[in-house]
Amino acid sequence: MGAANHVPEEAIRRQYEYIDLIAARNAEKAQFLGQKPRAVAHTFGCQQNFADTERLAGMLSEMGYELTEDVNDAALILYNTCAVREHAESRALGNVGALTHVKKARPETVIALCGCMVQQEQVAEKVKKSYPHVDLVFGTHALWRFPELLFRTLTGKKRVFDISGDERGEIAEGLPVLRGEGARAWLSIMYGCNNFCTYCIVPYVRGRERSRDPEAIENELRELVAAGYKDITLLGQNVNSYGKDLGLGLDFSGLLRRLDKVPGDYLLRFMTSHPKDASERLFDTMAECRHVAKQLHLPFQSGSDEILRRMNRGYTSAHYRELIVYARGKMPEITLSSDIIVGFPGETEADFVQTLSLVREVGFDMLYTFLYSRRSGTPAAEYPDSASKEEKQDRFERLLKAQDETVEGRQAAYLGKRLRVLVDSTGKSPEYPFAARTEGGLLVCCVGEGLRIGEFAEVEIDRTTLRCLFAHTVSQHIIYKG
Ligand code: 5AD
Ligand code: SF4
Repeated sequence: MGAANHVPEEAIRRQYEYIDLIAARNAEKAQFLGQKPRAVAHTFGCQQNFADTERLAGMLSEMGYELTEDVNDAALILYNTCAVREHAESRALGNVGALTHVKKARPETVIALCGCMVQQEQVAEKVKKSYPHVDLVFGTHALWRFPELLFRTLTGKKRVFDISGDERGEIAEGLPVLRGEGARAWLSIMYGCNNFCTYCIVPYVRGRERSRDPEAIENELRELVAAGYKDITLLGQNVNSYGKDLGLGLDFSGLLRRLDKVPGDYLLRFMTSHPKDASERLFDTMAECRHVAKQLHLPFQSGSDEILRRMNRGYTSAHYRELIVYARGKMPEITLSSDIIVGFPGETEADFVQTLSLVREVGFDMLYTFLYSRRSGTPAAEYPDSASKEEKQDRFERLLKAQDETVEGRQAAYLGKRLRVLVDSTGKSPEYPFAARTEGGLLVCCVGEGLRIGEFAEVEIDRTTLRCLFAHTVSQHIIYKG
């Protein structure tokens, strides 16, 4: 397998030419209107999608748009969509449907859809037929061609649909980016997925795994650190298989070690890991790298080996347990989270009880639990099902209850402890004016003199609830990992 196809520099340069053409139009408009035209770029879906939207927002900004969240005030509305569950799709389509009013009131508004949901041919068709107010549709593979596609939309008479692209996928470097405010930033290290879990649509809409060059990743990390970001998450559908396609002899652990040498006071996180590829070597690396947060999101999906087999996950629940024991042995303070699917086709009560036992046994700090959602085109969509909707809902609630019981105890154990946190936003109550995250990613509501967003502080925990630790400051503006 060779390294992934890079979009040629020449092709990227052409996109910058389209950016300039649109910017010239927008400058004229701005002069006429006395303000820049506004654009909405909204994300439905995961962090990967969010990172993609930051690129699209970067392009929009260079085209002379001012980003806003108000659709009623926008010359352009772009929704970056998700396909992982039916709920994500219906939410996106519901929001798109609601834009008919905007289009009626201001027909010149450009409405654009992109991302995973519309990469599916049948959905793109549905949008073509049933959502005539949508002007532009482009899939995940066409993301880097947004300037060109938008230019065609603005200057032509026809609606523009482009979900073309090779499933092998490409890597586009050198696109602009507009990052969110605050101390957190996302850094994509790879794209796509090769795993084909039988429930999952992602490999079909995001193409095959491809890794970015380590230099490009390291350079971006240096830029982020220089810009003052302190909480940086490396992103990929399965970060543990980073580098397999590059042939450089550099795996994910190697990448972490290389990035960890970048100087600065910052934390490195990563997601998502896959139990089939997560290794002792990875946990040794995490333990030894000073910038790497002692936090692990390791989805196990089901505690039943039979269900795992039918999900094509490539590990057993015993293997998962061994990984957790090893990780905790190396990093006793590690926080753990996982994804679980309830109600996979054919899941019996006995299968579910095994999931419940694993949850109780491991004691996760956070769980993301989902009811199975049938995705057309995936193998599991054809699997026979037996449990009723009510049974699945009942299992789901029992799982949440078991998790809440665990979390209550885990949170309470922090009482009186001193922790280092990164202040990342204003708090919801005047009593605790700041919200912060621990190295493990737990939410801490803080009060104290001199707290500043984007800085590390040391706090002492006064009170705990299921969702939050409450704390006062012991010292501010500390250097944590520098
Ligand atoms: N139904 C329900 N949950 C799903 N996930 C992925 N596909 C589906 C599906 N068809 C969940 C998995 C994954 C997370 C991102 O979403 O738990 O880890
Ligand atoms: Fe992210 Fe998967 Fe949703 Fe795409 S389908 S946005 S990869 S969660």
